[in-house]
Amino acid sequence: MSKILILNGSPRLNGNTARLIDAFKHGAEQKGHAVTVFNLQKMNIHPCLGCLGGGKNPNRPCVQDDDMIQIYPAYEEADIIVLASPMYYWSVSAQLKIAFDRLFAVAEKNAGYSNPQKGCIMLMAAEGDSKDNFEPVEHYYHALLRHLNWNNLGEIYVGGVLAVGDIKGHPALENARELGMSI
Ligand SMILES: Cc1cc2nc3c(=O)[nH]c(=O)nc-3n(C[C@H](O)[C@H](O)[C@H](O)COP(=O)(O)O)c2cc1C
Repeated sequence: MSKILILNGSPRLNGNTARLIDAFKHGAEQKGHAVTVFNLQKMNIHPCLGCLGGGKNPNRPCVQDDDMIQIYPAYEEADIIVLASPMYYWSVSAQLKIAFDRLFAVAEKNAGYSNPQKGCIMLMAAEGDSKDNFEPVEHYYHALLRHLNWNNLGEIYVGGVLAVGDIKGHPALENARELGMSI
């Protein structure tokens, strides 16, 4: 049984990213994994200050006092991190980027800022459906994982979905469920 932490960067809690998360979670739970979802939009999370002053208190790794305090223990315990986001200007949403930057405080607990080892998954919804629409995010995701030395367990990019509900009936939902079941 793995512990899976899903960081949902979509501000639309019933949007297309949320449906991808539901499908993935359903598959993972069918296999007996423990899945925790944080809806970042509902949380009070401030951007990283870049102070390099974190990591001194193991229970409160960041110098800032906000809702990241809920995410840190789940992050440290998790075997797998799922980055779930709408595409915003060929990147992840600000909600996800801000929370992810703040995870650096956990690396600050370690000599040389070494990162905890995780498996990682990307789930993303976007309006654009061209062949190259997801290239910038794929590049970012792979660079990130190379830096962290994390293991890529899968990526699902769904184009052609703009409004809430557009993803209904899309075959990617079944792919997400199968990805969850593959863990
Ligand atoms: C501020 C903003 C920026 C966006 N940027 C892009 C983009 O660069 N490329 C794209 O294909 N879709 C873009 N979209 C469309 C969203 O990715 C799309 O509506 C997605 O389905 C939203 O997911 P959600 O329902 O989980 O919020 C953007 C939407 C917004 C609101």
